[in-house]
Amino acid sequence: MTYKRPSFRVLCSLVLVAFTVACSTSEKVQTSDPQASALSSNEGNGINMSHEAQINELISKMTLEEKVNMIHGVSSFTSGGVPRLGIPEMVMSDGPHGVRPEHGRDWALDNAGNDSSTYLPTGVGLAATWNPELGYAFGEVLGSEAKARGKDIILGPGVNIMRTPLNGRNFEYLSEDPYLTSRMAVGYIKGVQSQGVAACVKHYAANNQEIKRAKVNVEMSERALRELYLPAFKAAITEGGALSIMGAYNKFRGQYCTHNQYLINDILKGEWGFKGLVVSDWGAVMNTMEAINNGTDIEMGTDLLQMPNINYNKFLLGDTVITLVKSGQVKEALIDEKVRRILRVMSHTNMIGAKRTPGALSTKAHQETARRIAEEAIVLLKNDGNLLPLQKTGVKSIAVIGANATRKQAMGGGSSQVLPPYEVTPLQGIQKLAGAGVNVTFAPGFEVTRAEKANQALIDEAVKAAKSADRVIFVGGWTHGYTDAWNGGAYDAEGADKPSLKMPFAQDQLLTAVLKANPNTVVVLIGGGPIDMSQWIGQTKAVVQAWYPGMEGGTALAKVLFGETNPSGKLPVSFPKRLQDSPAHALGQYPGDKDTVNVEYKEDIFVGYRYFDTYKVEPLFSFGHGLSYTTFGYSDLKLNRQGDAVQVQLQVKNTGPVAGAEVVQLYVKDEQSSVKRPEKELKAFSKVFLKPGESKTITLTLAKDAFQFYDEAKKGWVLEPGKFQILAGSSSKDIRARGEVTL
Ligand code: BGC
Repeated sequence: MTYKRPSFRVLCSLVLVAFTVACSTSEKVQTSDPQASALSSNEGNGINMSHEAQINELISKMTLEEKVNMIHGVSSFTSGGVPRLGIPEMVMSDGPHGVRPEHGRDWALDNAGNDSSTYLPTGVGLAATWNPELGYAFGEVLGSEAKARGKDIILGPGVNIMRTPLNGRNFEYLSEDPYLTSRMAVGYIKGVQSQGVAACVKHYAANNQEIKRAKVNVEMSERALRELYLPAFKAAITEGGALSIMGAYNKFRGQYCTHNQYLINDILKGEWGFKGLVVSDWGAVMNTMEAINNGTDIEMGTDLLQMPNINYNKFLLGDTVITLVKSGQVKEALIDEKVRRILRVMSHTNMIGAKRTPGALSTKAHQETARRIAEEAIVLLKNDGNLLPLQKTGVKSIAVIGANATRKQAMGGGSSQVLPPYEVTPLQGIQKLAGAGVNVTFAPGFEVTRAEKANQALIDEAVKAAKSADRVIFVGGWTHGYTDAWNGGAYDAEGADKPSLKMPFAQDQLLTAVLKANPNTVVVLIGGGPIDMSQWIGQTKAVVQAWYPGMEGGTALAKVLFGETNPSGKLPVSFPKRLQDSPAHALGQYPGDKDTVNVEYKEDIFVGYRYFDTYKVEPLFSFGHGLSYTTFGYSDLKLNRQGDAVQVQLQVKNTGPVAGAEVVQLYVKDEQSSVKRPEKELKAFSKVFLKPGESKTITLTLAKDAFQFYDEAKKGWVLEPGKFQILAGSSSKDIRARGEVTL
């Protein structure tokens, strides 16, 4: 199968010459950076409206049937086109960390073999870099590969807030913090769209659990919505210029998100002025009239039970809509508005009116980007007695233990699966870097099975290997599931949440035995977030969080373990000591009441570190935590008030022996407030790269919104005058410098 677009990508002769001219003129601006044109347009929000007249003219040439064909899926990943007018089908693809393998028109996997693509670290790993430039680089790879594969929309980034560590899709999402999520998402979106492909930010909104995801009705305060759950979507639209957005499966305040009047019409298209298109999650449209009236522009989905004879005209935005318009129950203008939005996105992605520049698939440069991101994503959680980095001199043998050392992860997790041309496993990475002088052995130690029982023979073998080696590298943690993502081993996977935080496959038992056999054991954890370490954390000297690090993950991990790369990742999510310490479980409702599946977010704005800090609950590892092989000194914090904004200056020095990078995190603490506020909130950060002995002065600006809270009575953001502390830290707990300002 080739991924070349059919010739109708070049606008065919039936389309107005004037429209062609308008599109190609703007393409000159777009190919370098579509956002440049977006920002300079009067309308903003990612859409340059200069083509409106041509778009309306095109709509006026369409029959009702042609319009309706454009607002629903016509295959598993395409919505309808109008060949007569040179309008192609819109081709979408998952998804957040790589272009998904082909599913043909109706989920038939393409086995021709050229549907592989670069497998990047998953969302949580990207956020752990705290490096928005890498967000952009990540997006560029995705956009370029999507384009090479003939895709128009890439279904990512996923920006839902990590409310509970049990959520099966946290690995795809970014963080528990709206500010960090926003910064990384904006970079990602701009990167994707720099390639002339649309990003689709998802899942709008409050899709914070997979269990009962299509039944759940989320209830939360307006303040929690505005302060926690919406900011990343807002930034994606208003700063990132995302051209499309996906409605979530769940309900919000009693109405399905995909056609939710408040979320879509009032906030997204109203307050934020979004001019792009809203696509449903797959099968998420539940009601035709609500979808027509409340802003759903394209209904996507598939009825797996009907395969291979799916009748896409029977979709809720299919033939029924034609009948409703013809009988006068629905105004055609409402359908025109949906088509207008689709055409705008087509125009912006050069699907109509101009030729696309070529993309590139699975290049060396893209694989290098995947490796760079993985290297910056890995977080050194604990390193007592400097067990890491491993020294090649003096270490003659390493026992690698744990089934995750050889397990490939790319095809796991559900819709975000990727088929890379290769995937370097942790064992392969370690073997390669250890070199010939070090004897590397491997023992799986546990089995990924549904039974989850300890396998004593494997434990005995692992203990034996541990005893006879100088060092042990244990590689365990969570798993993803493969094609059976909804069944065995699917802890970080779509459609299910984790049953608990307990380590699966009896790893506690295995690890306890291994640590006893060899205290010089480094624990490497694969996974989308926290795991319960209570059984063994006291006995281990070194713990490394590796996430799902992508196709070059094994290389990146080995470089960190052997000190070729100095770790600089920081946790984008708090690691609790035990599940009950997490706010959604301590104060809120999860997974929802039995009968109606209402989930009330009673913890309100106290999510993640906002809860741990305010309620004085000690986490195992705090938000923003991550060690380095060097040390950093903070000094000379200066605050310079500029109206309602504050400029913060600070010196950071590498005080240790090797080059490294520090993420300086700025938190704001409101000293007196008429409402309860979190102990502190992240409002700026900067990743600084320093050679040994080098120091740099960094300048960060805290704009007015860094000091505001959402006032429910006033229905708006409020800056209450008074004193604010500015805290500069190496993590949310490790504050190294502070100042005070009165606003
Ligand atoms: C997921 C989306 C995904 C879509 C298409 C849905 O099940 O929730 O994130 O983009 O499928 O694969």
